[in-house]
Amino acid sequence: MADPTPPTFLAATLLHHSTPPPATRPHVTLTFAQSLDAKIAGAQGRQLILSGKQSMVMTHWLRTLHDAILVGINTALNDDPQLNEPPHHLPRPVVVDARLRLPVTCKLLRNFQGKTGRRPWVLCAASLNSAFLERKSALEAAGARVIEIPLQSDEQPEGRLPVPSILHGLRERGVNSLMVEGGARIIASFLAESVVDALIVTVAPVLVGEAGVGYQYPTSLSENGDVLPKFKAIHTETLGQDTVMSFASIPW
Ligand SMILES: NC(=O)c1ccc[n+]([C@@H]2O[C@H](COP(=O)([O-])OP(=O)(O)OC[C@H]3O[C@@H](n4cnc5c(N)ncnc54)[C@H](OP(=O)(O)O)[C@@H]3O)[C@@H](O)[C@H]2O)c1
Repeated sequence: MADPTPPTFLAATLLHHSTPPPATRPHVTLTFAQSLDAKIAGAQGRQLILSGKQSMVMTHWLRTLHDAILVGINTALNDDPQLNEPPHHLPRPVVVDARLRLPVTCKLLRNFQGKTGRRPWVLCAASLNSAFLERKSALEAAGARVIEIPLQSDEQPEGRLPVPSILHGLRERGVNSLMVEGGARIIASFLAESVVDALIVTVAPVLVGEAGVGYQYPTSLSENGDVLPKFKAIHTETLGQDTVMSFASIPW
């Protein structure tokens, strides 16, 4: 990152809600890059580098402004991200991985072992299954901190950790600001819970086509206009070929 300070519009977006985070959760920034036809990945989830160089630098700055960065397990498996930006502040990597599918060879763990990244936290559901316990021991031996997230009810879809419990668990452990990077299911889950304080979307001038992966807002919520999450536009910036739009949530 050649520039010595982050782009000013990032601070304006993040500080829009200047109150301290609630006791039950961190401040949440949701950010992702999408094509003109609203796809965040290619067919079969193939990783697409949608952001150009300048908006990638903006995303790197955004990472340094948060205590932790969260991704879903499919993103961790598919993209094997590093989620850090040495030598700047290293945010805590967090993987939402109910069934502990994260491989011990992933870059997040290799970075931690090589002292170029912080210890990854892996959020899972409690289980006494012997194969699960073996995977848990292997991840812990490789350096991960495995954190069990309580399920709220039997109605929780299988493999889904409840977003409020995820956020509460992170806040309890000292995370005051969280950047959520995707993928599609995680984006949908966080939007559905109306816990997104700042939303930063990079739109790249490309079309991916209908086989690409987009995020879906749950139909049962969007049918009722009263409960749609609302955002206020804060800023639009052109970075190279990309358009970066930032929004802040509007209280209900
Ligand atoms: N363009 C971008 O900015 C961007 C950013 C990040 C990722 N991506 C792309 O997104 C794709 C992955 O997206 P994805 O939707 O397949 O996977 P994802 O959102 O990365 O991970 C979803 C998985 O996380 C687990 N999970 C546990 N609790 C959850 C909850 N409350 N809500 C949602 N998921 C929960 C589930 O795993 P189990 O199945 O084990 O239960 C679920 O299948 C990749 O292709 C990646 O390249 C794009």
